[in-house]
Amino acid sequence: METKLLKGIPVRDAVLAELKAKMARAPRLPGLAVVLVGEDPASAVYVRHKEKGCEEVGFHHVTHRLPADTSETALLALIAELNHDQAIDGILVQLPLPDGLNENRILMAVSPEKDVDGFHPVNLGRLVAGEPGFVPCTPKGILRLLAHYRIPLAGRNVVVVGRSVIVGRPLSLLLSLKRDDANATVTMCHSGTKDLTAVTRAADVVIAAIGVPKMLGRDAVGTGAVVVDVGINRIDAPERKSGTRLVGDVDFAELMGHAGAMTPVPGGVGPMTIAMLLENTWEAMCRAEDWDDGT
Ligand code: GUN
Repeated sequence: METKLLKGIPVRDAVLAELKAKMARAPRLPGLAVVLVGEDPASAVYVRHKEKGCEEVGFHHVTHRLPADTSETALLALIAELNHDQAIDGILVQLPLPDGLNENRILMAVSPEKDVDGFHPVNLGRLVAGEPGFVPCTPKGILRLLAHYRIPLAGRNVVVVGRSVIVGRPLSLLLSLKRDDANATVTMCHSGTKDLTAVTRAADVVIAAIGVPKMLGRDAVGTGAVVVDVGINRIDAPERKSGTRLVGDVDFAELMGHAGAMTPVPGGVGPMTIAMLLENTWEAMCRAEDWDDGT
């Protein structure tokens, strides 16, 4: 079977082109503030991608890089300042935070109207209620990617592996909503799931958001199923000059020729996350300005 590759870069480019076109008519520049605490190398790379995305569409952006020993009081003070900054529409606190900082307390301090990550309980509550709010970027990007490639979800069995607050849990909720681009029958699996392979093998669509390199192989996916790989794991690769390479949570080589369609890593879900962050920041500006952008 030929496996169709669900590439994220062309879809991201289309989203960015649309934002750039809207920017020509914008009442002012949307502004994004990114807060990066500590030295986590993967987080530093993700933040650079976010900065590059802002530059590509011409958004105002600032990054606050803080040392790993930043106190919770200092971080909360910075968030309070950004909540009041009229030039800032979106605030993103890069996760994970260093040990000693209470992630929930920090995320709750971000104004729900500037919470472009969609992690504040108010926005998560809006998602549960099916009300408009900020939807977390990776789940939103996955739905957009599948819609772009005309992968139907309505009525189909979608198995999400992973229950993180960033991806698995909001994605499961989003997929279950009664909307044209969702309306799926959703099963959320996690480390406590018994016979995971039997559950994923029966799915029409498998979405892996586990953070374990190449965890799902051929035995875990039914012939012709759609596979969405959210994992970005750096593994040793002595054959490479850099000594490492990125792999997903599924075994790409094993699934090529077996899955019906699959997202690559890198170049699949990752670019969609950035595109949705920029789109959420644009929406935050529109709401702040009471601006109707015609969509
Ligand atoms: N760390 C990994 N993914 C994300 C994300 O989407 N948002 C934030 N804030 N941190 C992350």
